[in-house]
Amino acid sequence: MYCPECGREIPSDKKFCINCGINIENLAPSKPQELEEEGLFGGIDPVSLVDSFFTPLEDKSPESRLQIEEPSSFSPFREAEVINNRYEVKGILGRGGMGVVYKVYDRILKEDIALKVLLPSLMRREKAVEMFYNEAKISLSLTHQNIVRVRDIGETGEVKFISMELLNGINLRDWMALPRSRSNKTAVEDVTTIIKQVCNALSYAHRFTVHRDIKPENIMVLKNLQIKITDFGISKLLPPIELSSTVISVGTAYYMAPEQYIQGNEVDHRADIYSVGVLLYELLVGKLPIGRFKIPSQLRSDLPSMVDHIITKSLESEPEDRYENIEEMKSDILILEDQIKKKEKVFAKAPVQKFPAKAEKIDLNKDFFFHFNLGLRFQKQRKYRLAIEQYQRAIEIQPKFVQAYNNLGSVYFLNGSYPEAMEEYKKAIELKPDYAEVYYNLAMVCEAMRDINQAIDCYKMVIGIRPDHERAHQGLGSAYKTQKEYDKAAKEYQRALSINPHDPITHNLLGNVYILKGKVEEAITQYREALRLKPDYKHALRNLEKATQIEKESKTSSDTMK
Ligand SMILES: Nc1ncnc2c1ncn2[C@@H]1O[C@H](COP(=O)(O)OP(=O)(O)OP(=O)(O)O)[C@@H](O)[C@H]1O
Ligand SMILES: [Mg+2]
Repeated sequence: MYCPECGREIPSDKKFCINCGINIENLAPSKPQELEEEGLFGGIDPVSLVDSFFTPLEDKSPESRLQIEEPSSFSPFREAEVINNRYEVKGILGRGGMGVVYKVYDRILKEDIALKVLLPSLMRREKAVEMFYNEAKISLSLTHQNIVRVRDIGETGEVKFISMELLNGINLRDWMALPRSRSNKTAVEDVTTIIKQVCNALSYAHRFTVHRDIKPENIMVLKNLQIKITDFGISKLLPPIELSSTVISVGTAYYMAPEQYIQGNEVDHRADIYSVGVLLYELLVGKLPIGRFKIPSQLRSDLPSMVDHIITKSLESEPEDRYENIEEMKSDILILEDQIKKKEKVFAKAPVQKFPAKAEKIDLNKDFFFHFNLGLRFQKQRKYRLAIEQYQRAIEIQPKFVQAYNNLGSVYFLNGSYPEAMEEYKKAIELKPDYAEVYYNLAMVCEAMRDINQAIDCYKMVIGIRPDHERAHQGLGSAYKTQKEYDKAAKEYQRALSINPHDPITHNLLGNVYILKGKVEEAITQYREALRLKPDYKHALRNLEKATQIEKESKTSSDTMK
């Protein structure tokens, strides 16, 4: 049976929806529409639908407040009530597993804002309050066009809340449920537009934190398909997952990476990558990738097989088999976007992995993760000596976990210990000979050690394994340039651009090679493109000025000759 409220499949033994908490006893079974027809939809302005999602407040007496903490009925504030002499309550925007979101008028800022009130029970856990303030501090500092702006944190009595900008849109769950003309399919272009923005937000935020709860309810869709992610880091407050419990946020479990069950909060950015994979799958085929699920192209004939590659790679059960970072995932999304634009149905150039992937099962116990995650933390804090120590301990506990060698190598590299870095990377390659990223890292060590020939060999290895590895083509181009092989360098930069035409750095690098080849006009075109993509790109600006000067001088001298 499927929930009539949110469309989620409900296990047969449950009397409530594990996602939205609605009681489904006495309700007729319903099922999300199957995706059968061809034809794509576009053009609903989500903003025009906002009002219909705005529910008035139930009238609750003050005495009954805070006593019922069951998510579906938790309503600590009444309409028109003024909180802390500042926020006038106007209504409820939505409810979730961790509390309820109100629309309020802020008397100080003189505008409507959103107030997320957290269930007091979340704060009863030891350390939860401290964690709440730590996470809130991070959220307060996040400034990105695809992340909701958190304004403040506050409390009244037992209740803690977060105030944030009021988003004039609907959440992605509701957006997915919008009626679609002619067929129930979402347009792939819309999906890539959404996922690209999710990647942009995460690429920025992963420098500071991990979201841990990427799901449609935490993604708001605004006008012109602009998206904003909400609830950064807040899921950390949740107690350990218990699948048998009735807590709403169990719905979140569908989007969680497998390691989140084992490690709880101690996961890294790759847990978010997994969740984005689930989201992408659901957006494209309208189902969740549960159990032995089908690859998207088996369910939708209009999808290029690049989609399968992206899904397979992001939903790998082992984090080290997934994309290394969200940027990598995004560059595959850009390739997909280009393929769709060209209406090509080409197979992904990258080797499509076995599906479902069968990685060797390695026993990773709590001690291992303790040291590995500590290593990650020290690495992020640039405390390299400490990170090395932790990774070494993790490796002692489990010497088969390839990512540990890679990370250890990277820390040595960052610390300037190149021979040690090389040794660790080689160990990683021994364990996993098709580990493209390690060859890439090795290439960088070789370059740092001025062994350009070996760097070139490593870049070629990466490209052999992953022909669409944009950064490897870029690196190979630069290695050729160092060797003054400008034709080969230009070719590699052009390849990198055919994979991702949106990287201003590659355009600038290609411009530089053109200058060395005496092709000033072509160089100017590249610098201009770099500046179009990144208007404040100082190197490209200076190069453009120099190239324009060269062009002028050569014109003047040819006029004089005449
Ligand atoms: N800043 C905001 N502006 C407008 N609406 C919002 C805002 N933040 C959240 N909402 C709406 O409120 C709903 C409930 O949000 P809430 O975060 O409480 O629940 P959730 O995301 O479903 O679950 P969880 O508690 O696990 O995050 C969201 O799904 C969204 O529709
Ligand atoms: Mg939320």
